Amino acid sequence: MRNCVNPGPLPFGAADKKEKTMEKKKFYITTPIYYPSDKLHIGHTYCTVATDAMARYKRLAGYDVMFLTGTDEHGQKIEQKANEAGVSPKEFVDRIVEGPQGVKDLWKLMNISNDRFIRTTDDYHVAAVQRIFKKMYDNGDIYKGAYKGKYCTPCESFWTESQLVDGCCPDCGRPVVDAEEEAYFFRLSKYADRIRDLLENTDFLQPRSRVNEMVKNFIDPGLEDLCVSRTSFTWGVPVDFDPGHVVYVWVDALFNYATAMGYLNDAYGDYDHYWPADYHFVGKEIVRFHSIIWPAMLMSVGEPLPKHVFGHGWLLLDGGKMSKSKGNVVDPYILAEKFGVDALRFFLMRTFPFGSDGNFSNELLIQTINTDLANDLGNLVSRTTAMVGKYFGGQLPEGCRTWDAPENFDTDLIAMVSALRDTYETQMEACAPHNALAEVFKVIQRANKYIDETAPWALAKDMEANGKRLAHVLYNLLEATRVCGILLIPFMPESMEKLFRQIGAGAEAQTWDSAKVWGTLPETTAVVKGENLFPRIDMDKALEELEAAAEAAKKAALPAIELEPQLTEKVDFDTFCKSDFRAVKVKACENVKKSEKLLRFTLDDGTGTDRQILSGIAKWYKPEDLVGKTLVAIVNLPPRKMMGHESNGMLISAVHTEKGEEKLNLIMVDDCIPAGAKLC
Ligand code: MSP
Repeated sequence: MRNCVNPGPLPFGAADKKEKTMEKKKFYITTPIYYPSDKLHIGHTYCTVATDAMARYKRLAGYDVMFLTGTDEHGQKIEQKANEAGVSPKEFVDRIVEGPQGVKDLWKLMNISNDRFIRTTDDYHVAAVQRIFKKMYDNGDIYKGAYKGKYCTPCESFWTESQLVDGCCPDCGRPVVDAEEEAYFFRLSKYADRIRDLLENTDFLQPRSRVNEMVKNFIDPGLEDLCVSRTSFTWGVPVDFDPGHVVYVWVDALFNYATAMGYLNDAYGDYDHYWPADYHFVGKEIVRFHSIIWPAMLMSVGEPLPKHVFGHGWLLLDGGKMSKSKGNVVDPYILAEKFGVDALRFFLMRTFPFGSDGNFSNELLIQTINTDLANDLGNLVSRTTAMVGKYFGGQLPEGCRTWDAPENFDTDLIAMVSALRDTYETQMEACAPHNALAEVFKVIQRANKYIDETAPWALAKDMEANGKRLAHVLYNLLEATRVCGILLIPFMPESMEKLFRQIGAGAEAQTWDSAKVWGTLPETTAVVKGENLFPRIDMDKALEELEAAAEAAKKAALPAIELEPQLTEKVDFDTFCKSDFRAVKVKACENVKKSEKLLRFTLDDGTGTDRQILSGIAKWYKPEDLVGKTLVAIVNLPPRKMMGHESNGMLISAVHTEKGEEKLNLIMVDDCIPAGAKLC
């Protein structure tokens, strides 16, 4: 029997230093490596938290776990973004990976226990990818050709005509462009039969529904060779034997799972131990890369295939995928700060079936916290510990573990708790964390019902007669709480530490093995009613605050200055010259009655007759501040009536947007310019 002590939260990247325990069974799990093109959102967090929960569960169950995550830093999209930001691509990615609220910072906040972090710009990875590319070239699986096709720049994917949806990229729905370049190709077609066999006849790809998608959409129509080098940009791993080409970003990215263990490099020496990976957890839109291209490339270099790829669903917002470009992303920092990291982790895993899409909403998040954590779990812990405190001064008497004449509800509770670890394990092994949590919460609800059935407050009325029975009831409740607490460690590691302290469960009562041994908790352990683990949230107030926080974050993220795009349509010179721009002096200026926007100007335009112009600039100027100024007006526009006043011309201003707010500045010229001077 394994006997593993709960490792608790591991410090970020800790296991790089961890000793290998060869006698344990290994388990190697990965997340996708993230594009550091923008700040990560709750959808990315979902995938990483799921992988973390699985890794923690396996550690708890006694496995020697390797959990890898990282960043995928090459490619045209990054190069473009860096250009826009006016920095080098490396500076750009460094900021998003290492900087404040960057990728590493977010994983630290979310208590992600990854053992290793790879960046595809790491030297060892770059050199290994060059060796891998050469290896596939030398064995005849990579050859030179010319690529003509439809290219989606944001996704960095080439598509065939038949794969496009309404002429657009099938992944992101954006327009594709015709592209042609000299390129290297990978003989993906050669592996079609082996890939079909892998997908159809093994449990390599999960859930099963993803197999049909892959076979129907990609294998049945015929696998085409894959373009694996680019010449149209430079931010990538150079093909060392053909300068000018960089390795296609997906080839570079997929091999991270192997190079981070030391494949074809000396930076790490764990490849023989951990490879093949046991699980790649990936979002559904990148299943194609992981279940077709990745195994084919491994076949090409003669390496074993990962055991499983699991394609999870998306977190949707208002029915659509979250994306920065759509502006509908949910910020994990705001949620974690408001509700706590553990509550957020729990919500993500409890609410959405892992293989399917799920609709995110703040209401659902608050509801889940209130129902499961505050009501069910929180109440069980606080009622139980409070009663041990109130009736027994925080320590149950010896002998409370046993009871000679158990009631049906005693037996029922003990049977449910004793069976829980196995049902939980079955669900976790099936990558169904939502179901594993549902099993735990059935037991928590059962335990709360047990409180009502046994009515400890009634027993306490006659301690002499019922004291022993009362102690037994409370012991049963502590045990039920303890076992549920163990199984919740992978999801809420920090809160479970607090829970164990409150119910007096030491290290030996927090182990995986002990979750199956009813009665592990010492009878006279010290129980303390501590802080409320999960306070109830006021829904209306929290929703309002979240909205305000999201609004503030949106504003802060806006570019400091936004300019109107310049018009591309040309005006011929003669038409332009027909516009008569003149210097005008403000003789008088006043607000127009009943209008919040309009100012009425009386202007000297050099003709000797006053000119009246109305302008919607009251938001930016006080009338008295403008008297005496020399402005610019276009004077040959047809007259216009505004709020009952005639306006003869238009004053010229400069406009831009700053942090989401429209700004306007009247063009003012030097006062030495006489009224009526023509501007040309
Ligand atoms: N760089 C590639 C992965 C290379 S792996 C060799 C990539 N990066 S990504 O940053 O765009 O996405 C990383 C992961 O986040 C993907 O698995 C993706 O499915 C996941 N998610 C991004 N948005 C998501 C949701 N809204 N919901 C759930 N997961 C989503 O793809």
